[in-house]
Amino acid sequence: MALREPGNRTCPVRWAAALLLALGVERAVALPEICSQCPGGVHNVSAVAVYCEQTPGLTLRARCCLGPTGAIVGLDLQNCSLKQPGPNFPQAHSAVIIELQTNPLQGDLTDTFRGFTQLQTLVLPHDVSCPGGISAWDTVTSYADNQTCQGQKNLCNSTGDPEMCPENGSCAPDGPGFLQCVCADGFHGYKCMRQGSFSLLMFFGILGSTTLSISVLLWGTQRRKAKTS
Ligand SMILES: *[C@@H]1O[C@H](CO)[C@@H](O)[C@H](O)[C@H]1NC(C)=O
Ligand SMILES: *[C@@H]1O[C@H](CO)[C@@H](O)[C@H](O)[C@H]1NC(C)=O
Ligand SMILES: *[C@@H]1O[C@H](CO)[C@@H](O)[C@H](O)[C@H]1NC(C)=O
Ligand SMILES: *[C@@H]1O[C@H](CO)[C@@H](O)[C@H](O)[C@H]1NC(C)=O
Ligand SMILES: *[C@@H]1O[C@H](CO)[C@@H](O)[C@H](O)[C@H]1NC(C)=O
Repeated sequence: MALREPGNRTCPVRWAAALLLALGVERAVALPEICSQCPGGVHNVSAVAVYCEQTPGLTLRARCCLGPTGAIVGLDLQNCSLKQPGPNFPQAHSAVIIELQTNPLQGDLTDTFRGFTQLQTLVLPHDVSCPGGISAWDTVTSYADNQTCQGQKNLCNSTGDPEMCPENGSCAPDGPGFLQCVCADGFHGYKCMRQGSFSLLMFFGILGSTTLSISVLLWGTQRRKAKTS
């Protein structure tokens, strides 16, 4: 039986507001697709499970460890027959810890982790190199069953080229092996030379562009080879 205040009419506006609120809440708690890309939950003895249980305020859902606002803090996609991380993988860009071991991963993962600035622990299959190479991490450890990349290095410090970024921009990390130039407040565009309201416009990452040009080069030569054969 529902209790009603006297004279309280069912108001359509209130209904609409409640519906919008419900939809908003629904969206806020919606699980990112990457968390349910693999069946089951986080392995109970995985590094992600341990991290999530030891850190206050985090909750395990499907293959993810989520922060209070629903952001992905940990992702455990181990033992899931993955050949590629897949198109949803960038949803985990806020992750601190990721496990991908026991998967038949193929190819180079460097570009996969672009923008993963929070990542501190990455566990990979034994035969897959840490993205960005050894110089992008504090510690790279090879075990019999996996490879662990730990502590993302800030290349802005180790590269140590103050001339790299233009006058009105500064260097900022952009994931393992990547850095970017971020324009100062009030500047944007090529070499941060344009003044205006768009700040934080990034325009290059050293490793990213190198990788891209090498890929284009390889693609070009392979294609020529394929044509001539
Ligand atoms: C993990 O799961 C296995 C089997 O499901 C169980 O035997 C084991 O006790 C669990 N370990 C922990 C740390 O919960
Ligand atoms: C991987 O998953 C398979 C079945 O999906 C299971 O039999 C196997 O024990 C798992 N291996 C590890 C290392 O968890
Ligand atoms: C990596 O493999 C080693 C054994 O080769 C194991 O002791 C360790 O727990 C593994 N790390 C993770 C995070 O699974
Ligand atoms: C990089 O340099 C900045 C400022 O010079 C410093 O605050 C930061 O701790 C350094 N980071 C590392 C990993 O050395
Ligand atoms: C950077 O900003 C200063 C001060 O606003 C300006 O004088 C200078 O021309 C700018 N440099 C470039 C390369 O746009």
